Amino acid sequence: MIQKSEIRKNLEDGLPILIYDFDGREEEVDMMFYAGRISWKSINLLRKDAGGLICYVTSKEYGQKLGLDFMSNIIREKYPYLAKKPSYGDEPAFSIWLNHITTKTGINDVDRAKTISELHSVISLLNEDEKLAKEKLETEFYSPGHVPVLLSRGIRYRRGHTELSISLLEYVNLEKSAVIAEMLDDGLSLSKEKALRYARHNGFLFIEGKEILKEVLI
Ligand code: 5RP
Ligand code: ZN
Ligand code: CA
Repeated sequence: MIQKSEIRKNLEDGLPILIYDFDGREEEVDMMFYAGRISWKSINLLRKDAGGLICYVTSKEYGQKLGLDFMSNIIREKYPYLAKKPSYGDEPAFSIWLNHITTKTGINDVDRAKTISELHSVISLLNEDEKLAKEKLETEFYSPGHVPVLLSRGIRYRRGHTELSISLLEYVNLEKSAVIAEMLDDGLSLSKEKALRYARHNGFLFIEGKEILKEVLI
Protein backbone atom coordinates (compact mmCIF):
# COMPACT_ATOMS: atom_id res chain seq x y z
CA MET A 1 0.00 0.00 0.00
CA ILE A 2 1.15 3.53 -0.74
CA GLN A 3 2.22 5.47 2.36
CA LYS A 4 -0.57 7.03 4.40
CA SER A 5 1.15 10.44 4.35
CA GLU A 6 1.38 10.39 0.55
CA ILE A 7 -2.30 9.54 0.16
CA ARG A 8 -3.29 12.29 2.58
CA LYS A 9 -1.03 14.83 0.87
CA ASN A 10 -2.46 14.08 -2.57
CA LEU A 11 -6.03 14.43 -1.28
CA GLU A 12 -5.23 17.65 0.60
CA ASP A 13 -3.54 19.03 -2.51
CA GLY A 14 -6.82 18.51 -4.36
CA LEU A 15 -5.50 15.66 -6.51
CA PRO A 16 -7.62 12.65 -7.43
CA ILE A 17 -6.94 9.06 -6.41
CA LEU A 18 -8.02 6.23 -8.68
CA ILE A 19 -9.70 3.30 -6.92
CA TYR A 20 -10.22 -0.14 -8.49
CA ASP A 21 -12.85 -2.12 -6.57
CA PHE A 22 -12.46 -5.92 -6.79
CA ASP A 23 -12.19 -8.75 -9.27
CA GLY A 24 -15.66 -10.31 -9.42
CA ARG A 25 -17.46 -7.09 -8.41
CA GLU A 26 -17.84 -4.07 -10.73
CA GLU A 27 -14.17 -4.51 -11.78
CA GLU A 28 -14.11 -0.76 -12.40
CA VAL A 29 -12.05 2.25 -11.49
CA ASP A 30 -13.57 5.37 -9.91
CA MET A 31 -11.80 8.72 -9.77
CA MET A 32 -12.08 10.10 -6.24
CA PHE A 33 -11.46 13.54 -4.70
CA TYR A 34 -11.61 14.74 -1.09
CA ALA A 35 -14.73 16.97 -1.05
CA GLY A 36 -12.99 19.44 1.24
CA ARG A 37 -10.70 20.37 -1.65
CA ILE A 38 -13.11 20.28 -4.57
CA SER A 39 -13.04 23.06 -7.17
CA TRP A 40 -14.75 23.51 -10.50
CA LYS A 41 -11.54 22.20 -12.08
CA SER A 42 -11.96 18.89 -10.24
CA ILE A 43 -15.52 18.59 -11.59
CA ASN A 44 -14.17 19.38 -15.05
CA LEU A 45 -11.63 16.55 -14.75
CA LEU A 46 -14.25 14.13 -13.37
CA ARG A 47 -16.53 14.98 -16.29
CA LYS A 48 -13.92 14.86 -19.05
CA ASP A 49 -11.41 12.23 -17.90
CA ALA A 50 -13.63 10.00 -15.73
CA GLY A 51 -16.99 10.53 -17.43
CA GLY A 52 -19.27 8.56 -15.11
CA LEU A 53 -21.91 9.89 -12.76
CA ILE A 54 -20.38 12.46 -10.39
CA CYS A 55 -21.52 11.59 -6.86
CA TYR A 56 -21.01 13.09 -3.40
CA VAL A 57 -20.19 10.47 -0.75
CA THR A 58 -20.49 10.48 3.01
CA SER A 59 -21.32 7.91 5.68
CA LYS A 60 -24.70 6.36 6.48
CA GLU A 61 -24.35 7.62 10.08
CA TYR A 62 -23.92 11.22 8.91
CA GLY A 63 -26.80 10.71 6.48
CA GLN A 64 -29.02 9.53 9.33
CA LYS A 65 -28.12 12.54 11.46
CA LEU A 66 -29.22 14.76 8.58
CA GLY A 67 -32.41 12.81 7.92
CA LEU A 68 -31.18 11.43 4.57
CA ASP A 69 -32.57 8.00 3.70
CA PHE A 70 -31.41 5.50 1.08
CA MET A 71 -33.23 5.91 -2.24
CA SER A 72 -33.93 2.16 -2.25
CA ASN A 73 -36.05 2.59 0.92
CA ILE A 74 -37.96 5.44 -0.71
CA ILE A 75 -38.44 3.42 -3.92
CA ARG A 76 -39.60 0.33 -1.98
CA GLU A 77 -42.44 2.40 -0.54
CA LYS A 78 -43.58 4.12 -3.68
CA TYR A 79 -42.50 1.81 -6.54
CA PRO A 80 -41.91 -1.65 -4.97
CA TYR A 81 -41.77 -3.33 -8.43
CA LEU A 82 -38.66 -1.22 -9.24
CA ALA A 83 -36.78 -2.10 -6.06
CA LYS A 84 -34.46 -4.68 -7.65
CA LYS A 85 -30.78 -5.06 -6.93
CA PRO A 86 -27.97 -4.38 -9.48
CA SER A 87 -26.44 -7.40 -11.27
CA TYR A 88 -23.53 -7.56 -8.79
CA GLY A 89 -26.05 -8.02 -5.97
CA ASP A 90 -25.40 -5.02 -3.72
CA GLU A 91 -28.08 -2.83 -2.22
CA PRO A 92 -27.36 0.52 -3.95
CA ALA A 93 -25.63 3.33 -2.04
CA PHE A 94 -27.84 6.08 -3.48
CA SER A 95 -29.68 8.57 -1.29
CA ILE A 96 -31.38 11.69 -2.73
CA TRP A 97 -30.11 14.20 -5.33
CA LEU A 98 -29.34 17.74 -4.22
CA ASN A 99 -28.54 21.23 -5.48
CA HIS A 100 -27.40 24.20 -3.41
CA ILE A 101 -29.96 27.04 -3.64
CA THR A 102 -27.41 29.48 -5.06
CA THR A 103 -26.80 27.35 -8.17
CA LYS A 104 -28.37 28.28 -11.47
CA THR A 105 -28.85 25.17 -13.60
CA GLY A 106 -27.06 23.02 -11.04
CA ILE A 107 -25.11 21.04 -13.63
CA ASN A 108 -22.18 23.13 -14.82
CA ASP A 109 -18.78 22.63 -13.20
CA VAL A 110 -19.03 25.72 -10.98
CA ASP A 111 -22.55 24.82 -9.82
CA ARG A 112 -21.71 21.22 -8.98
CA ALA A 113 -18.53 22.31 -7.18
CA LYS A 114 -20.64 24.77 -5.16
CA THR A 115 -23.23 22.12 -4.18
CA ILE A 116 -20.45 19.72 -3.17
CA SER A 117 -18.45 22.32 -1.20
CA GLU A 118 -21.59 23.33 0.70
CA LEU A 119 -22.39 19.67 1.40
CA HIS A 120 -18.87 19.33 2.76
CA SER A 121 -19.52 22.33 5.05
CA VAL A 122 -22.69 20.62 6.33
CA ILE A 123 -20.70 17.47 7.14
CA SER A 124 -17.93 19.46 8.86
CA LEU A 125 -20.57 21.32 10.89
CA LEU A 126 -22.15 18.04 12.04
CA ASN A 127 -19.31 17.40 14.48
CA GLU A 128 -19.71 20.82 16.09
CA ASP A 129 -23.45 21.46 16.03
CA GLU A 130 -25.78 18.75 14.73
CA LYS A 131 -28.89 20.96 14.86
CA LEU A 132 -27.25 23.75 12.87
CA ALA A 133 -25.91 21.28 10.29
CA LYS A 134 -29.40 19.83 9.72
CA GLU A 135 -30.83 23.34 9.51
CA LYS A 136 -28.23 24.28 6.89
CA LEU A 137 -29.12 21.23 4.80
CA GLU A 138 -32.84 21.93 5.04
CA THR A 139 -32.67 25.63 4.25
CA GLU A 140 -29.82 25.80 1.72
CA PHE A 141 -30.51 22.80 -0.54
CA TYR A 142 -33.31 21.48 -2.73
CA SER A 143 -34.12 18.15 -4.30
CA PRO A 144 -34.18 16.72 -6.92
CA GLY A 145 -30.89 18.32 -7.88
CA HIS A 146 -27.84 17.37 -9.94
CA VAL A 147 -25.59 15.87 -7.27
CA PRO A 148 -26.49 12.34 -6.17
CA VAL A 149 -25.58 11.64 -2.56
CA LEU A 150 -24.17 8.18 -1.78
CA LEU A 151 -24.10 6.82 1.78
CA SER A 152 -21.45 4.35 2.90
CA ARG A 153 -22.82 1.38 4.84
CA GLY A 154 -19.33 0.58 6.13
CA ILE A 155 -16.69 -1.65 4.52
CA ARG A 156 -17.73 -4.61 6.70
CA TYR A 157 -21.20 -4.58 5.14
CA ARG A 158 -20.64 -3.47 1.55
CA ARG A 159 -17.56 -3.22 -0.64
CA GLY A 160 -18.37 -0.62 -3.25
CA HIS A 161 -16.47 2.48 -4.32
CA THR A 162 -18.74 4.30 -1.86
CA GLU A 163 -17.37 2.34 1.10
CA LEU A 164 -13.82 2.19 -0.28
CA SER A 165 -13.58 5.97 -0.63
CA ILE A 166 -14.92 6.58 2.89
CA SER A 167 -12.59 3.90 4.34
CA LEU A 168 -9.64 5.53 2.62
CA LEU A 169 -10.54 8.93 4.09
CA GLU A 170 -10.90 7.41 7.56
CA TYR A 171 -7.55 5.69 7.11
CA VAL A 172 -5.79 9.01 6.46
CA ASN A 173 -7.84 10.89 9.11
CA LEU A 174 -9.78 13.17 6.78
CA GLU A 175 -13.48 14.01 7.06
CA LYS A 176 -15.84 11.40 5.56
CA SER A 177 -16.68 13.51 2.53
CA ALA A 178 -15.71 12.47 -1.00
CA VAL A 179 -16.60 12.88 -4.66
CA ILE A 180 -16.44 9.91 -7.02
CA ALA A 181 -17.12 9.14 -10.66
CA GLU A 182 -16.59 5.94 -12.57
CA MET A 183 -13.95 6.09 -15.31
CA LEU A 184 -15.37 5.36 -18.75
CA ASP A 185 -13.89 4.52 -22.13
CA ASP A 186 -15.41 4.47 -25.63
CA GLY A 187 -18.66 2.62 -25.05
CA LEU A 188 -17.63 0.78 -21.89
CA SER A 189 -16.00 1.23 -18.49
CA LEU A 190 -12.27 1.96 -18.61
CA SER A 191 -10.21 -1.19 -18.05
CA LYS A 192 -7.98 -1.48 -14.99
CA GLU A 193 -4.88 -1.56 -17.24
CA LYS A 194 -5.85 1.62 -19.09
CA ALA A 195 -6.70 3.34 -15.80
CA LEU A 196 -3.28 2.39 -14.43
CA ARG A 197 -1.60 3.88 -17.51
CA TYR A 198 -3.69 7.05 -17.15
CA ALA A 199 -2.68 7.31 -13.46
CA ARG A 200 1.04 6.90 -14.26
CA HIS A 201 0.88 9.37 -17.13
CA ASN A 202 -0.75 12.03 -14.92
CA GLY A 203 1.10 11.31 -11.68
CA PHE A 204 -2.08 10.26 -9.83
CA LEU A 205 -2.20 7.52 -7.17
CA PHE A 206 -3.88 4.21 -8.04
CA ILE A 207 -5.14 2.01 -5.22
CA GLU A 208 -6.92 -1.36 -5.24
CA GLY A 209 -9.82 -2.25 -2.96
CA LYS A 210 -7.90 -5.24 -1.62
CA GLU A 211 -5.07 -2.94 -0.43
CA ILE A 212 -7.57 -0.72 1.40
CA LEU A 213 -9.20 -3.79 3.01
CA LYS A 214 -5.81 -4.99 4.25
CA GLU A 215 -5.23 -1.66 6.04
CA VAL A 216 -8.66 -1.07 7.50
CA LEU A 217 -9.91 -4.59 8.36
CA ILE A 218 -7.53 -5.50 11.13
C1 5RP B 1 -20.02 6.66 -9.86
C2 5RP B 1 -20.18 5.19 -9.90
C3 5RP B 1 -20.08 4.46 -8.60
O1 5RP B 1 -19.22 3.38 -8.84
C4 5RP B 1 -21.43 3.97 -8.14
O2 5RP B 1 -22.44 4.81 -8.49
C5 5RP B 1 -21.47 3.73 -6.66
O3 5RP B 1 -20.47 2.93 -6.36
P1 5RP B 1 -20.49 1.55 -5.66
O4 5RP B 1 -21.75 0.78 -5.99
O5 5RP B 1 -19.27 0.87 -6.22
O6 5RP B 1 -20.40 1.87 -4.21
O7 5RP B 1 -20.40 4.60 -10.91
O8 5RP B 1 -20.01 7.19 -11.15
ZN1 ZN C 1 -18.50 1.48 -8.04
CA1 CA D 1 -19.85 2.14 -11.02
